Amino acid sequence: MAELIINTCLNYLVLALSIFFFFLSESPSPAHAASVQYNVVSFGAKADGKTDSSKAFLSAWASACGSTRAATIYVPRGRFLVRSASFNGPCKSSAITVCIDGTLVAPSNRNVNGNAGSWIVFRRVYGVSVIGGTLDGQGMGLWACKLSGKSCPSGATNLMISNSENILVSGLRSLNSQMFHIVISGCQNLKMQGVKVSAPGTSPNTDGIHVTASTGVTILDSKIGTGDDCVSIGPGSNNLWIENVACGPGHGISIGSLGQEQEEDGVQNMTVKMVAFTGTQNGLRIKSWARPSNGFARNILFQHAIMNNVQNPIVIDQNYCPDNSGCPNKASGVRVSDITYQDIYGTSATLVAVKFDCSSKYLCTGIRMQDVKLTYWNQVSTASCAHADGTASGLVQPSSCLSLPQNYKTENYF
Ligand SMILES: *[C@@H]1O[C@H](CO)[C@@H](O)[C@H](O)[C@H]1NC(C)=O
Repeated sequence: MAELIINTCLNYLVLALSIFFFFLSESPSPAHAASVQYNVVSFGAKADGKTDSSKAFLSAWASACGSTRAATIYVPRGRFLVRSASFNGPCKSSAITVCIDGTLVAPSNRNVNGNAGSWIVFRRVYGVSVIGGTLDGQGMGLWACKLSGKSCPSGATNLMISNSENILVSGLRSLNSQMFHIVISGCQNLKMQGVKVSAPGTSPNTDGIHVTASTGVTILDSKIGTGDDCVSIGPGSNNLWIENVACGPGHGISIGSLGQEQEEDGVQNMTVKMVAFTGTQNGLRIKSWARPSNGFARNILFQHAIMNNVQNPIVIDQNYCPDNSGCPNKASGVRVSDITYQDIYGTSATLVAVKFDCSSKYLCTGIRMQDVKLTYWNQVSTASCAHADGTASGLVQPSSCLSLPQNYKTENYF
């Protein structure tokens, strides 16, 4: 019972506020003291798992969004069927908290939202926190359709946050999304922490968190098990920080696919640290299409990663060309540079634990490997390099196959 009380979202808020006031020895801020609360149930939402509560959620949002003060939307325990909901801004309030103790349930019929792109959406909002809650996408029907090879709707993302700023998502669970679980697009200063994503390893296209065209996204302390990339990073993403994430099942943490378009923004300044991969298809991956593009991936640090039985622990693949179509001259235009792998260890499920398959047009430059130890069962694994320049230091196993850059002074190397 005590645990239940501590776990409720409102108690979390009370705790956060009392800590806030404790440190704020001056008089409390009137904005926080006067926060207004909107309970979705008083707008007609039903926690019976079968009455569509979309309208109630949208009415609660309209009130919170129109408030001139800080506002809290409260979703109590229970299962709320929500057909779809777009929480759109801009809002008058610049401090909206969506506090969820219950579960939002998507329609199980794949045709309801299958072509809508996304299910729960926040668009053009500034200063929104989503605390707690479970989003149950009920994607099984759609996956079954896709796996049977029939023509199916492409599926909806559980949670889409677009064109928004100063966002916190904390303690959210995303289950069985039809398509990508969480998409962050066109956002600035967004933090996700304590997020749990789960779907079966066999569920198609269910990326955990996809970030694209965004600046200042931080993902902390999260656990992702799904059927596609745990985290995927699309073009136009800068200043990303990913720390303390467990991935598996899934396809790993992936930058890309980049370079699908001729004109494309790059990915730069990204840190991925303290991540653990278990039984995944890839670990740390950079992937680009084998076609012309002005895209890039640069200044990326992969630090302190553990691989447990991962098929491709470290991989750069610039020859992505599914079905061998649409790749006119078969060389990626994406420039990959200044990529550091530091303190990466564990086990590979295949002999080739490190694979740098770079563009024949623009070789990868400034790859740095430091203290990497990956074994294949009890054997030494191997590394394979094509068009990849860089250096190795510390213990590096498998031994590096990088070409030393032409201007490199060998005395520094040994
Ligand atoms: C790189 O990103 C981090 C956040 O992940 C940020 O604090 C830092 O200022 C950025 N560096 C540059 C040079 O933009």
